Amino acid sequence: MTDQSAGQNALQDIDADLLDPYENLVSIDVLGVEVNVPEKNRLLRCFQYLSLNTISYGDFCWNGECTNCQIWYHMKGQDELNDRPALSCRIECVEGMVITKLSRFIELEGITK
Ligand code: FES
Repeated sequence: MTDQSAGQNALQDIDADLLDPYENLVSIDVLGVEVNVPEKNRLLRCFQYLSLNTISYGDFCWNGECTNCQIWYHMKGQDELNDRPALSCRIECVEGMVITKLSRFIELEGITK
């Protein structure tokens, strides 16, 4: 399934002040859905860009303490054997990231619901 609309329609919804400055979008895969998110931003912020309400009102500390934002990922060209855990409030999105698993606290419109 490919769904580009999640990333493209979100831009007008998120307050630009929430995002760190960026020029380009990068393409990442989230549970098999390819989406475009703002480069140079932490992944949880990118999730918020994709799904403003679920992340804004989600149960997240945003500072590396609660682990509710945990994800598992590898890079394009690797497979799930290379999966490693990360806290999405701590790592930046990178072109070619393939996210294979999300903490149950991360709900994304158009992807998990
Ligand atoms: S949001 Fe709490 S650890 Fe990332």
